[in-house]
Amino acid sequence: MALNKRDIDLNNVNCDDYTTADFYEFESDDLFEVSEYFYEMYQDGVRKKYMVYGQPVMSAPLDEFEVYDITSGSVRRFLNFCSYNYLGYSYHPEVKKAVKDTIDKYGTGAVSAPLLSGYFDITQKLESTLAEFKGHEAAIVFPTGYSANLGTLSGILRPGDVAVLDMLSHASIYDGVRLSGADIKVFVHNNPRHLEKVLKGLKTKRVMVCIEGVYSMDGDLANLPEIVPICKKYGAKILLDEAHASLVFGERGAGVAEHFGIEDEIDISIGTFSKSFGAIGGFASGGLKLMTYLRMYARAYVFSCAVAPHTAAGILKILEIYQKDKSYRDKLWENTRYMHEKLKSAGLDIGNSKSHVIPVMAGNDLRLREISKRLQEKGLYTGVVTYPAVSKNKTRLRLSISSYHTKEEMDRCVEILKSVFDETKDWTPRR
Ligand SMILES: Cc1ncc(COP(=O)(O)O)c(C=O)c1O
Repeated sequence: MALNKRDIDLNNVNCDDYTTADFYEFESDDLFEVSEYFYEMYQDGVRKKYMVYGQPVMSAPLDEFEVYDITSGSVRRFLNFCSYNYLGYSYHPEVKKAVKDTIDKYGTGAVSAPLLSGYFDITQKLESTLAEFKGHEAAIVFPTGYSANLGTLSGILRPGDVAVLDMLSHASIYDGVRLSGADIKVFVHNNPRHLEKVLKGLKTKRVMVCIEGVYSMDGDLANLPEIVPICKKYGAKILLDEAHASLVFGERGAGVAEHFGIEDEIDISIGTFSKSFGAIGGFASGGLKLMTYLRMYARAYVFSCAVAPHTAAGILKILEIYQKDKSYRDKLWENTRYMHEKLKSAGLDIGNSKSHVIPVMAGNDLRLREISKRLQEKGLYTGVVTYPAVSKNKTRLRLSISSYHTKEEMDRCVEILKSVFDETKDWTPRR
């Protein structure tokens, strides 16, 4: 039921009575009034040391980093299991040098949209290198991974078309389809039988199935060997988002499709530079004709400034290093296996994670807040994930494992998690 301002005393808002989900629908004649009430709820959360989002980071996002702790008003050192710097490339000396050298030559930005003057020789080289890396004919670089999904889906789908989404798809997939005006149907997470049932019932052949290689909040893998043949059987096109899988899965590092040896079956692959590539930007890859079409019809590409030349240079350098030396990836896998084992034997629920993205299930929002407060006190930084990123009673911490984590740091992380989860087992907020 939607919240109504009549039910809340603005001078006495107790954050323990609400979750962020409650403020999504708020009944008021004034568009901005919700923010007055939300602000009071948020401030109460800060006072109680719950709202640990968006604290300024003061050093490089490596195994440990310095963060301005808003609850104590001081800079503190934290163990970092939150950044997507899976292979540590954001701080690799050769990558930093390539970026610096490119800034010296081109300056700080593309300063134009790609169809005008924002497309540089180095961007073109990046696109052809990415296409080769993915085993596709062509690739397009977008400003972010979010806009790669937004632009690609809204560029292709039209009202009356149907997008069939794994129910745990990333927000950018949902938003891209919504923007297109196509109908959204969902299938039970990673469930080929339910997917088939949905596809069977459709009246149009203009269908796109959207899935993720590594699911961003659960760390499990798309069941491609079963899902792909069903899509083919019903003539549906496939968009596979490999955001978290790039450089981690597959012999070449191209992702989960390569891992399962079915890259040729994927129509469009989406990637991002914000995870293992340690930067910002995104890309779509696929057939040359489709990618050429998208350059004119993906509005998130056409109407947004292009990725900076120095970003392109950094990604190219990473792809060059990666081809010669996969030791960072080997280390990431060693660490991932170690953490899976440690967390499970500590009795923590990591769902069905099969990757370096590891959820630790916390239950409801109120317990999650208390957990996040205690982790903050003990100096451990993780993703604190609540609605709308996950459904209301499936809140969790999300651990991002990296190649640079040491065994001691991983042990410390699990020790802290275990103690905090044990302490808050039957947590209910004090009134
Ligand atoms: C599966 C998935 N797709 C897309 C994105 C968006 O990528 P970016 O941060 O580059 O916008 C993310 C980011 O978290 C993601 O997890």
